[in-house]
Amino acid sequence: MNKRPRILLTRRWTSEVENHLAEHFDVTLNERDVPLAPEALRAAMRDHDAICPTVTDRIDASVLDVPGRRVRLIGNYGVGYNHIDVAAAARLGVQVSNTPDVLTDSTADLAILLLLMATRRAGEGERELRAGQWTGWRPTHMMGQSLAGKVLGLVGFGRIAQATARKAHAAFGMQIAYYGRRRAEPQVEQETGARFVASLDDLVAGADVISLHTPGGAETFHLIDAARLARMKPHAVLINTARGPVVDEAALVDALREHRISAAGLDVYEEEPRVHPGLLALQNVVLLPHLGSATHETRTAMGMRVAENLEAFFAGRPLRDPVA
Ligand code: DGY
Repeated sequence: MNKRPRILLTRRWTSEVENHLAEHFDVTLNERDVPLAPEALRAAMRDHDAICPTVTDRIDASVLDVPGRRVRLIGNYGVGYNHIDVAAAARLGVQVSNTPDVLTDSTADLAILLLLMATRRAGEGERELRAGQWTGWRPTHMMGQSLAGKVLGLVGFGRIAQATARKAHAAFGMQIAYYGRRRAEPQVEQETGARFVASLDDLVAGADVISLHTPGGAETFHLIDAARLARMKPHAVLINTARGPVVDEAALVDALREHRISAAGLDVYEEEPRVHPGLLALQNVVLLPHLGSATHETRTAMGMRVAENLEAFFAGRPLRDPVA
């Protein structure tokens, strides 16, 4: 009889991780690799010991609280877990883990990529060239903005924001300011070159580039709304690698269209995979399909981090990365 814990991966993972998990667990794979319907998730809760979802799965109370539930661990593949109702999980005695640390650098790299693309108009330039509309070099062609000495304002100052600060400061000579619920330790401020700004309104008004690094969820919903966009400098650039709903997308479309801010670089959207049609029509926004952690190395490390949490849980040890 097979006594190995039965686990479900809601999407395909890298083969290294799938092979590793198959050595320890009875693994159900989602061969079609499309998001599972709520009914399929509810069914999986009844016949698995753990499920390993991603950002595309809504694990709310109606999924967690199924009669005859067997699942005792949700091993999330990803650091953000606003798609999981952790309060309901805690109430029902279901543990939840995530994958911090291992995706910090890749996600910070992507924030820097968007920062460069948006300030140097890279998407716009490539579109012009591919459309056969490039007429040759000229002194005033597609001028962007330099970064040295400019203020990068970070909203949220967790691991990914700090890594972004280090890269922007060391590589591009940017000045770093941040707003967060708590002020960081002096040594973190020193090492990242970051200065604390106690008010988000002041941070957005004073920065040349604003990069968002907060968790998603009700507390940060539309944190960047029409009023905050209106406080930004006319040449300011907004970068979002956090969660789409942190920004009021319709208000952002208006601000970009009317050139009240100069550009944006987005990796996340309010209703993924749908992208606001207003954004698609604009030249001054760079749009990437939620690629923050998408390197082979990082996606494998994320899976291995889920595996560590699963192995700890089924060995009766505390989770490495508990969130509920
Ligand atoms: C993360 O790790 O939070 C990514 O955005 C995917 O969920």
